[in-house]
Amino acid sequence: MSTGSVLVTGGTGYIGSFTTLALLEAGYKVVVADNLYNSSAEALRRIELICGKKAEFAQLDVTDEAAFDRVFEAHPDIDSVIHFAALKAVGESGERPLDYYQVNVYGTICLLRSMVRHNVTNIVFSSSATVYGDATRFPDMIPIPEHCPLGPTNPYGNTKFAVETAITDVINAQRNNAIKAGNAAEAEKWNGALLRYFNPAGAHPSGIMGEDPQGVPYNLLPLLAQVATGKREKLLVFGDDYASHDGTAIRDYIHILDLADGHLKALNYLRAKNPGVRAWNLGTGKGSTVYEMIRAFSAAVGRDLPYTVAPRRAGDVLNLTANPTRANEELGWKAERTLEQACEDLWLWTENNPEGYRQQPPATLLEK
Ligand code: NAD
Ligand code: WQD
Repeated sequence: MSTGSVLVTGGTGYIGSFTTLALLEAGYKVVVADNLYNSSAEALRRIELICGKKAEFAQLDVTDEAAFDRVFEAHPDIDSVIHFAALKAVGESGERPLDYYQVNVYGTICLLRSMVRHNVTNIVFSSSATVYGDATRFPDMIPIPEHCPLGPTNPYGNTKFAVETAITDVINAQRNNAIKAGNAAEAEKWNGALLRYFNPAGAHPSGIMGEDPQGVPYNLLPLLAQVATGKREKLLVFGDDYASHDGTAIRDYIHILDLADGHLKALNYLRAKNPGVRAWNLGTGKGSTVYEMIRAFSAAVGRDLPYTVAPRRAGDVLNLTANPTRANEELGWKAERTLEQACEDLWLWTENNPEGYRQQPPATLLEK
């Protein structure tokens, strides 16, 4: 099977940049599309430093349908899209829901319309464990399998759910229309992967590539990293009265390299097996509490990091841990890296690049 070219929207962002690296390393040609709202084009240079291969870059906004047309016309060998570009801050989505619907939902509609027009037939979508909402409503569904009833609890999660539905409807319609036209082979080409990620963590083990958000971080590990560099005085632990063994909430933290590899495997599966639309959880299957994360990251840093207990954060749930069996069995994918590795890699990146991509990495790391 030829590898073809892949369009990666949001490809300069955290998960998108690591997936672009994995695609290039696997021999795919990659075109990255991003408006750099929450990322920097420097990510593409780091990718090239690591793998010696270059992705093409198109600066575009996903709500600009004609811009997608131009990319597909300039690159007729693109047969697949991995769609990361989105706004992703849960709290902000409650304050600015229209922006979230505009970028996440309308942006995806623009992409899908252009894909249909240009016969680009595979889409891998960045969904989220957040589509399950509070899965502890169903105690026999922890760890969470894909057939757990969906029930997002915030506007961000609603946009992910809406896009999962839109992709499913569009792929099914394309398949049905092709069958009605008597072209079963054409129908088979339309496929979608809905990848529900749990909590991405870590950085590249080279220390020159990692998460570099433009604003204030709100996720646990980036905040802990700021405590370690002194940018933040201490971590606030959001609630120690959960029904877990140490009272803090449980999440499934997955190394970013494993997550990126999951995209590669999902894309290969779509192109080889033509499954139609299918959802897969990408998680480790192992839950860790906030206290366990503080201990693991403190061990990587080599000293205890200060924290105090604060009230629960609105909307947080006790336990979001994946059952990744479907992805293990169908995609032949498994999260291989440990939490300790994720913490060590994150610390190497943070310690050496406190200003993220706004500074050059130390020469010692570049020489390796
Ligand atoms: P990120 O912010 O690092 O990457 C998103 C990218 O999209 C950024 O490069 C940003 O500049 C770009 N973008 C935003 N609006 C755009 C627009 N209008 N047009 C073009 N590009 C635009 O975030 P990430 O953590 O890499 O997340 C990638 C995807 O994965 C998102 O869809 C997110 O919702 C999803 N996701 C993230 C997590 C997580 O915890 N990081 C978990 C589950 C799902
Ligand atoms: C992890 C744990 C907090 C910060 C979010 C989105 C989810 C997905 C991943 C996109 C929780 C606790 C955190 C702090 C803390 N993103 N915490 N103090 O909430 O599991 O998931 O990111 O799709 O949709 O909701 O991740 O990193 O914010 O929190 O105690 O300062 O750490 O309460 O238990 P979360 P997180």
